[in-house]
Amino acid sequence: MELQFSRHRRLRSSASMRALVRENHLRAEDFIYPLFIYEGENIRNEVSSMPGVFQVSMDNLQAEMEDIEAHGIKAVLLFGIPATKDECGGQAYHDHGIVQEATRYIKQHFPEILVVADTCLCEYTSHGHCGVVEGEQVLNDESLELLVKTAVSQAKAGADIIAPSNMMDGFVTAIRAGLDEAGFKEIPIMSYAVKYASAFYGPFREAAEGAPQFGDRKTYQMDPANRMEAFREAESDAAEGADFLIVKPGMPYLDIVRDIKNNFNLPVVIYNVSGEYSMIKAAAQNGWIDEKSTVLEMLVGMKRAGADLIITYHAKDAIRWLNEQ
Ligand code: PBG
Repeated sequence: MELQFSRHRRLRSSASMRALVRENHLRAEDFIYPLFIYEGENIRNEVSSMPGVFQVSMDNLQAEMEDIEAHGIKAVLLFGIPATKDECGGQAYHDHGIVQEATRYIKQHFPEILVVADTCLCEYTSHGHCGVVEGEQVLNDESLELLVKTAVSQAKAGADIIAPSNMMDGFVTAIRAGLDEAGFKEIPIMSYAVKYASAFYGPFREAAEGAPQFGDRKTYQMDPANRMEAFREAESDAAEGADFLIVKPGMPYLDIVRDIKNNFNLPVVIYNVSGEYSMIKAAAQNGWIDEKSTVLEMLVGMKRAGADLIITYHAKDAIRWLNEQ
């Protein structure tokens, strides 16, 4: 008797057959690689919780950029670690701040590589919050003024994309107006529209030396339990003129990535954050998982979930592995 059932395995029968019907692909152009620029000299510190990720000073930037270019990475996301911090994060919007200097250098020597500037104050403020602080409060509108100054100085230095990550309300409106007024109408805003208050940022705070000195970020970053809130955030940022929408972190929020992809017509960016990277690295170093296949599975899963672009510390390795295949 002939049984009636579907033969799904027909399309899995060989590597060629599987390649023929593969629905999602990773390419070098999908990745944005974060870089930590350290003000100082002769610095190339590996971040202890993020093996393979380095803080680099300007004098080591050329070698780092050559390596990035050789890997085929097309965009970098810059974070700065300034030599001095103050209450108002003055180095974030100083025309010779570390990110501004690094941006100028990269645009002069590696003009093909897009510079995405992270627009936030937490690496630059003595208290480590993303805005201006009064008592225990992070003030919204007062912070916007400084964030606009930061974005404009980054654009002046040559940044190709402004990526505000501070989670103050109205930052897209304020930064868009500030950029337009300063003559940067053509510079897009990649908004960290949907950014959760996540424990997965732990290793980044070591890398960027930007941990809050008191309290936490829960009055401005989002509650991990919420989904509707992601729609509200994405709606307002899209309405305010964002050109890209970031969802962050990545792996634990793939449902949100799919929601944003299905409901908005802007490019969706996922941020595969530091803690996600550290977990994989630690497990791989222990021999508990295979790093290459785990990372590629995770990254293609992000594309399947709806991400158009992936900000990831795995970018160099991923591109190398893709080229081997
Ligand atoms: C700054 C910022 C953070 C990250 C990116 N930009 C830290 C934070 O919000 O606490 C985290 C990135 C990562 O964990 O890889 N606001």
